Formats: sequence, structure tokens, C-alpha cells
Amino acid sequence: MKKLILFYGMFVVLLATVLVYQGCSELDNSVTLAPEIRNHAEGWSNPSSANFHGIYIANNKWNLSGCKTCHGGDYSGGTSGSSCLGCHSNSNGPENCRTCHGNSEHANPPRALNGDTLTTSLGVGVHMSHRFSTYGAALTCEDCHRDINGFDDPNHIGPDPDGHAEIFFGPRAYDTLGGPIRPDPTWDRNTATCSNVYCHGTFKEGNVNAAGIWTDQGSVYCGTCHGDPNTGNPTPQVNGVFTQPHYSFMNETSCYVCHGSVINGQGNFVDKELHVNGEVNY
Ligand code: HEC
Ligand code: HEC
Ligand code: HEC
Ligand code: HEC
Ligand code: HEC
Ligand code: HEC
Repeated sequence: MKKLILFYGMFVVLLATVLVYQGCSELDNSVTLAPEIRNHAEGWSNPSSANFHGIYIANNKWNLSGCKTCHGGDYSGGTSGSSCLGCHSNSNGPENCRTCHGNSEHANPPRALNGDTLTTSLGVGVHMSHRFSTYGAALTCEDCHRDINGFDDPNHIGPDPDGHAEIFFGPRAYDTLGGPIRPDPTWDRNTATCSNVYCHGTFKEGNVNAAGIWTDQGSVYCGTCHGDPNTGNPTPQVNGVFTQPHYSFMNETSCYVCHGSVINGQGNFVDKELHVNGEVNY
């Protein structure tokens, strides 16, 4: 009996060694795996099944390294002979930046990690308005997140992800316009609010106490960052006090006289890349 256990024990060790060897090396793809491990659950390829592989991955720290041991380092099949790339046909296969968040065009949400697409959802928010604003310079991911250099970047998911993105403000949020007011940008996840940030008014003649609500597209409009939020008149003033060259009789059709590279006489932006770019253009 003992001999039998020893025999099986050694067999298991041997089998494990072979499997680990196969997993770590891409050299021999022709070796067929033992049938026992071809046991993906029923529904594994079906997005509407609770056993769908996408759900499994989301519930297991978004870790794809296990998949690679059988499906190959480049996901083309490896020892499993079953490629991920037929379905995940974008560059880098499943590691494509739009697989888990974003949509067919952008890596940023809409389509949060949990599948939400509404701007009222925390993971979605006003990403699109910041990336492609109708009247402000386009922001990049690094304006609000750490620079992610590839899927395996340690700043990306990491070994123990908390399931949501981290906010790290880039230099634009700290701009001062050369004035004495120093922004100290903060992100409050509970209220979904971004405050003390240059872009939203923390500068000399800006509305220094203004805040933007990430999940409320209507919370930011003309007059909220500088000017009068009640009337929507953008003429800079500090607590109702105008300082030259800005006067109370001005409105958005007056700005062009001095800020003509940014805005025209109808109050329409002629070059939105010059607005909220960290510089006064006049
Ligand atoms: C039969 C087609 C098919 C194959 C093969 C396939 N996938 Fe998928 N995968 C999908 C579909 C469909 C989705 C869901 C896409 C969506 O929700 O827009 C998905 C989603 C995912 C996601 C996103 C998970 C999430 O919750 O957002 C990851 C990661 C992923 N697959 C990895 C892999 C890996 C790794 C392989 C190969 C080992 C693989 N897939 C093979 C069809 C496939
Ligand atoms: C122990 C080896 C092994 C591991 C680990 C493994 N797979 Fe597989 N997988 C296979 C084999 C073998 C097949 C082909 C046989 C089958 O369909 O069951 C397969 C098939 C699949 C298919 C179906 C392909 C199709 O065309 O329908 C998907 C999807 C898939 N795997 C995704 C994954 C994902 C995602 C992971 C990581 C979470 C993963 N696999 C981890 C061995 C493995
Ligand atoms: C397998 C799914 C998956 C893929 C593929 C993926 N991401 Fe992510 N990404 C995540 C998850 C999960 C988070 C949240 C991280 C956390 O929990 O800390 C995230 C967060 C981010 C963030 C927010 C900052 C942070 O890390 O907290 C950025 C930016 C980002 N990803 C960029 C990318 C880029 C660029 C690529 C392509 C190179 C990519 N992602 C591919 C799952 C993925
Ligand atoms: C204006 C700031 C800003 C910019 C620019 C920005 N993000 Fe985000 N991002 C956020 C905020 C705020 C959240 C929500 C953070 C939280 O959940 O605490 C977030 C969340 C995310 C998430 C997690 C979504 C989820 O489901 O929880 C991903 C992924 C992400 N961002 C990727 C990107 C990528 C990729 C880019 C660039 C293409 C980008 N972001 C640009 C502010 C920004
Ligand atoms: C008569 C010329 C003139 C007009 C008209 C004018 N501006 Fe200005 N604006 C300036 C000058 C000059 C500066 C730079 C002042 C400085 O750096 O102290 C400036 C600075 C600013 C700033 C940055 C304030 C700061 O804290 O440094 C904002 C915001 C601004 N203008 C908005 C507007 C808007 C909105 C309008 C139209 C309602 C407008 N301006 C009309 C000349 C003008
Ligand atoms: C998200 C906050 C925000 C909103 C909303 C906003 N601005 Fe500004 N605006 C700024 C900041 C910050 C500056 C300081 C200079 C810079 O960075 O461009 C500025 C500067 C300006 C200037 C001076 C020219 C320049 O250099 O940009 C004009 C003109 C101006 N804004 C007009 C408007 C008008 C008109 C509206 C409403 C349609 C508006 N702004 C809404 C943040 C905002």
C-alpha cells in the first residue's frame, strides 16, 4: 500500500514538473496537455453565462498570467492549441487597452470596469468631456492618472488591485498662472468631487472655491470656474469685485477684444486648445 502511494506521489510530482515546464517554456507547443485540465466551465465562452471567462478574470484580480501558461505568452494558443486572438483580434490581443475598459475607440470609459456606460456612474463620469471638451484643451490620461506604460506597468493593476482607478494629478492641475495662489488638487471619491484644482478656478482671478462633480455633467458651465456662476457671465471677478482690465460691463462677447486667439466676438471658441491650457492668451 505504502509503495503504491509513493508511486502515485512520484507520478504526480513528475506530472506537475512537466506541466510547469510546459507553462514556463514556449519552446514546445506541440506537446498535448492531459485531457483532465481541459476543464473550463460550461459557458466559459458565453458572455451571458455566470461562468463567462470575462467575469472570472474580473473576480480574480484581472490577472491574465495564468491564462498565458496554457494559451501562450502571446495568447496565440500555446500548449492549449486554442488561441485568444480569433475573438480578441485587436493589437496585443486580450491585453489591448480597450478590452476591459473604454470602447471601440477609446481606452478611457464609457464602459467602466463593471460595464456601466452612464456618466452618472463613478467609473464612467465625465471622462469624455475632459478628453474631448467642446471648449477646453483636450486632457490626457496623465493629467489625472499615473502614466501607464503598457499592460504590465506596476502602476496599472498591480498584484493586489482595489478594483478602481487611482487619481494622481499631473502638472496642469497645479498651474498658478504665475500668481500667488497655489492649487492643492484633491479628489474625493465619496462625493465624486474634484476641488482646489487649477483647471476649475484655483487661480488669481478664478473662483477658488469652485469644484467639479465628476458624475454631474451639469455642474460645470460658463461662469463656474471664473466669473459669475449665477448668471453664467465668465468675466473674472473675485467675490464680486472686478479688477482691471476686467469690468462689470463685460460679457462673453467682449473677451475677443483682448483674447482674440481664444474666442471670437460671438463668444465662440476659435481655438479651444488655448483655453484651460495653463496660460493666459491675450
Ligand atoms: C470565443 C471568443 C473568445 C475567446 C476565444 C476569448 N475571449 Fe475573452 N472575451 C470574449 C468576449 C465576447 C468578451 C466580452 C467583451 C465585451 O464585454 O465587450 C471577452 C472579454 C474578455 C476580457 C475582459 C474581461 C472584462 O470583464 O472586461 C478579458 C480580459 C478576456 N476576454 C481575456 C481572454 C483571454 C486571456 C483569452 C484567451 C485565453 C480569451 N479572452 C479568449 C470572447 C472571447
Ligand atoms: C491548464 C491550461 C489552461 C489554462 C490555465 C487556461 N486555459 Fe483556456 N483552454 C485550455 C484548453 C486546452 C482549451 C481548449 C479546449 C477547450 O475548449 O476546453 C481552452 C479553451 C479556452 C477558451 C475557448 C476557446 C474557444 O475558441 O471557444 C477560452 C475562451 C479560454 N480557454 C480562455 C481562458 C482564459 C481566459 C484563461 C485564464 C483565466 C484560460 N483559458 C486558462 C487550457 C487552459
Ligand atoms: C485585463 C483588463 C485590463 C486591460 C487589458 C487593461 N486594463 Fe487598464 N485597468 C484595469 C483595471 C482593473 C484597472 C483599475 C486598477 C486598480 O484596481 O487599481 C485599470 C486602470 C487603468 C487606468 C487608471 C489608472 C490606474 O491604474 O489606476 C489607466 C490609465 C489604464 N487602466 C490604462 C490602460 C492601458 C493604457 C491599457 C493598455 C496598455 C490597459 N489599461 C489595459 C484593467 C485593464
Ligand atoms: C479629468 C481627469 C481624468 C482624465 C483625463 C482621465 N481620467 Fe480616468 N478616471 C478619472 C476619475 C475621477 C475616475 C474615477 C476614480 C475613482 O473611481 O475613484 C477615473 C477612472 C478611470 C478608470 C476606472 C473605471 C472604473 O470602472 O472604475 C479607468 C480604467 C480610467 N479612468 C482610465 C482612463 C484612461 C485610459 C484615460 C486616458 C485615455 C483617463 N482615464 C483619463 C479621471 C480622469
Ligand atoms: C481689455 C482687455 C481684456 C478683455 C476685454 C478681457 N480680458 Fe481677460 N485678461 C486680460 C489680460 C491683460 C489678462 C492678464 C492679466 C494678468 O495676467 O494679470 C487677462 C486675464 C484673464 C484671465 C486669467 C485671470 C488670472 O487670474 O490671471 C481670465 C480667466 C480672463 N482673462 C478671462 C476673460 C474673459 C472671460 C473675458 C470676457 C468676458 C476677458 N477676459 C476679457 C485682458 C482682457
Ligand atoms: C472648467 C473651468 C472653466 C470653464 C467652465 C470656463 N473656463 Fe474660461 N478659463 C479657465 C481657466 C483655467 C482659464 C485660465 C487660462 C487658461 O488656462 O487658459 C480660463 C481663461 C479664459 C479666458 C482667457 C483666455 C485664455 O487664455 O484662455 C477666456 C476668454 C475664457 N476663459 C472664456 C470662457 C468662457 C466664454 C467660458 C464659458 C463658455 C469659460 N471660459 C468657461 C477655466 C474655465
